[in-house]
Amino acid sequence: MKRIVVLLSGRGSNMLAIAEALRRERWPASIVGVIGDRPGAAGLQRAGELGLPAALVDFRGFARREDFERALAEAIDAHEPDVVVLAGFMRVLGAPFVEHYRGRLLNIHPSLLPAFPGLATHRRALQAGVAVHGATVHFVGTEVDAGPIVAQAAVPVLADDDEAALAARVLELEHRLYPMALHWFVEDRLRLEGGRVRLLDPRPGETRLLWHEAR
Ligand code: GAR
Repeated sequence: MKRIVVLLSGRGSNMLAIAEALRRERWPASIVGVIGDRPGAAGLQRAGELGLPAALVDFRGFARREDFERALAEAIDAHEPDVVVLAGFMRVLGAPFVEHYRGRLLNIHPSLLPAFPGLATHRRALQAGVAVHGATVHFVGTEVDAGPIVAQAAVPVLADDDEAALAARVLELEHRLYPMALHWFVEDRLRLEGGRVRLLDPRPGETRLLWHEAR
């Protein structure tokens, strides 16, 4: 059984998608902890409602980032995780923290990295006039929103899209992308080779790319 810890800052819809996929597909894994960095995070409440152990490490209680990250790592490590999943965790993590979890720290970012790291990705994609946008699951490296890419999901940008419409189209695919990528990790099918990720034993039709299907 692989032990998963989820970190979040907000509504927790990716955490829920993972929890549902894990149960539905009977992964050899369980979510052993959900940790939030701010008291208002709806995702913490939703985790509690699912019966998942939910805890808060409030970043506002720490004067220095290093102290917050040390407390966060202690809370995480108490669960003895095999993998730590950032699911809308809106903090930049320092090098010691990232090093401690190297190879077992995953993130989802709402853009086709390396395009649009950082915030407001959907607005910036619209402003740039791109025709394709999406989301990326990657191993976390020491640079912000960078690191070996596990899988990506691509959606079209439509002529009449606003930020909300585009975000919703991307989020729908995030909810398939993150469980898919994490399931591969749980099955020990991801191999890091240099700065790249290889999916071992791909099954027929299985690729590291999800496409939006027009309805
Ligand atoms: C998701 O869209 C995720 O990709 C993004 O925050 C949202 C969290 O939603 N993450 C980042 O921007 C990280 N840089 P959720 O709380 O409903 O899962």
